[in-house]
Amino acid sequence: MAEKKPSVWTSISFWRRSAAWVTGLATVLLIWLTFDTMAQIRMGTDEELAQGVKRRIPAPTVVNYKIDYKYDEKRGVEVPVIGPEKQPLFGKEMSPKEAAAMLHLGKLTSQAKNCMDCHTLLGNGAYYAPDLTKAWLDPMWNQTMPAMTGKKTKEEAMVEFLMHPEKYPTHARMMPNLGITEEEAKGLVVFLKHMSSIDTNGFPRGFSKTTKEFETGGTYAK
Ligand code: HEC
Repeated sequence: MAEKKPSVWTSISFWRRSAAWVTGLATVLLIWLTFDTMAQIRMGTDEELAQGVKRRIPAPTVVNYKIDYKYDEKRGVEVPVIGPEKQPLFGKEMSPKEAAAMLHLGKLTSQAKNCMDCHTLLGNGAYYAPDLTKAWLDPMWNQTMPAMTGKKTKEEAMVEFLMHPEKYPTHARMMPNLGITEEEAKGLVVFLKHMSSIDTNGFPRGFSKTTKEFETGGTYAK
């Protein structure tokens, strides 16, 4: 009687070879993904921005532009629309150096005051308070907050809110006064406006629909 050939599934060399192949392919894939991610998350330069080059993370001078948020039919998500119209903060366009310095100050302040203790930034942090990724685009800053604070512009109203959040409650939970100085608050405004310009593949999903004025006929409808 002929000997029965053992099944390939019991062959040690088969499993050895498979393991080597899977490890090899996964390594190549991970290296490729790493380089792809690095390229995608690299911050653009001020020159690129001035030439209208689109990057996921635009240069700090993006805060000199009007930033809008529109539904992209093709991608099926909301994406930031930068410019071409300018909308400088605090009535003056920032040079690349100024914008970078203010963005840096805002980032350091967000770390020093631990905004992530309560908020999420780009999805990281705590769930006590609203996600701040697109906070700059919250229609609340257009009319509601300027009216509450008696300030004329969106950015001035945001500075006032950040310095005295306990005076202007808009949610059921209240943000405490964190002792933020005016300069730090301005840095935070630059930080938040810059963050709102980042193409996050539509995160947080349905942001426009979750903002209050949208429901009452705001301008952020698609
Ligand atoms: C102790 C918790 C806590 C910390 C820390 C905190 N916040 Fe808040 N924040 C809140 C709560 C609660 C709200 C919602 C209350 C409100 O809008 O009146 C809020 C609201 C906000 C809003 C308005 C969001 C919107 O669009 O409706 C902004 C902007 C904001 N915080 C920025 C910050 C920044 C920047 C920091 C760090 C410097 C920070 N917060 C730290 C609790 C916190």
